[in-house]
Amino acid sequence: MSDNGTSPQPVDSPGVPAEQRAREEQLVQTVLASFENATDERLKLVMQALVRHLHAFLREIRVSEEEWAAAIAFLTDTGHITDERRQEFVLLSDVLGASMQMISINNEAYANATEATVLGPFFVEGAPEIEQGGDISAGAVGEPCWVEGSVTDTEGNPIAGALIEVWEADDDGFYDVQYDGEHTAARGRLHTADDGSFRFWALTPTPYPIPHDGPVGRMLQATGRSPMRASHLHFLVSAPGRRTLITHIFVRGDELLDSDAVFGVKDSLVKDFERQPAGTPTPDGRTVDGTWSRVRFDIVLAPPPMS
Ligand SMILES: [Fe+2]
Repeated sequence: MSDNGTSPQPVDSPGVPAEQRAREEQLVQTVLASFENATDERLKLVMQALVRHLHAFLREIRVSEEEWAAAIAFLTDTGHITDERRQEFVLLSDVLGASMQMISINNEAYANATEATVLGPFFVEGAPEIEQGGDISAGAVGEPCWVEGSVTDTEGNPIAGALIEVWEADDDGFYDVQYDGEHTAARGRLHTADDGSFRFWALTPTPYPIPHDGPVGRMLQATGRSPMRASHLHFLVSAPGRRTLITHIFVRGDELLDSDAVFGVKDSLVKDFERQPAGTPTPDGRTVDGTWSRVRFDIVLAPPPMS
């Protein structure tokens, strides 16, 4: 290696003659050198690392021209199916675990702060405001679920007025934005009380598939992977002077916890959704026909980065 040790790893190409390897390596060095005059140091770092890793990938698996054409066709299809309502590149990032790796890199563990997970494609700005104890379902079909908890800092001090945004799929596995029309359901926002507490009605989460009728779905099928996501309820929690938390809670006992299509599950985010038989009195006296569930989620917000 003549690149001062900056290759991602030695390229393992058994059976490739030394002269051929030297030619390939020379090309890598030439391409790297083409970025040497970039004045933006970060951009130079990014482009040279991309070149090193990309060439190492191509050389390691000895990509055929047919395979390279198929890869370009795949990315072209991914672009063509993407529009304002559908982001296939985000989906691709998700199923490759890149989105979760980004979360790990950019949300370093801090004391007992609640762990983050993927935002997903279905967050909508400006969801309806509800009162404490209000109901986010707005007509979405599903089993009622009482959600309560608190928001504190890492020392246990309550955070009053923290903004909690929540959203989820309905019992059929769809978010409101996946239906035709402008109807808003199964999403809302509320603020914590003076003691940092919150409570609201939602729906017991159910599993759903990520959109799998496009190139990402075909890749999952070709590789024997499931498009299903473990049941979850999304949270986005923010407060002045605290690191914004994007996370979900998952349902303990869900059989999909170990095979979540986007690798979003973390043990600390798996919660007990306690099933309540029909007729069980509700915490706020609301009358519920049939079964309901309840869950507690105590949220701990980290300080902002670099504070
Ligand atoms: Fe989701």
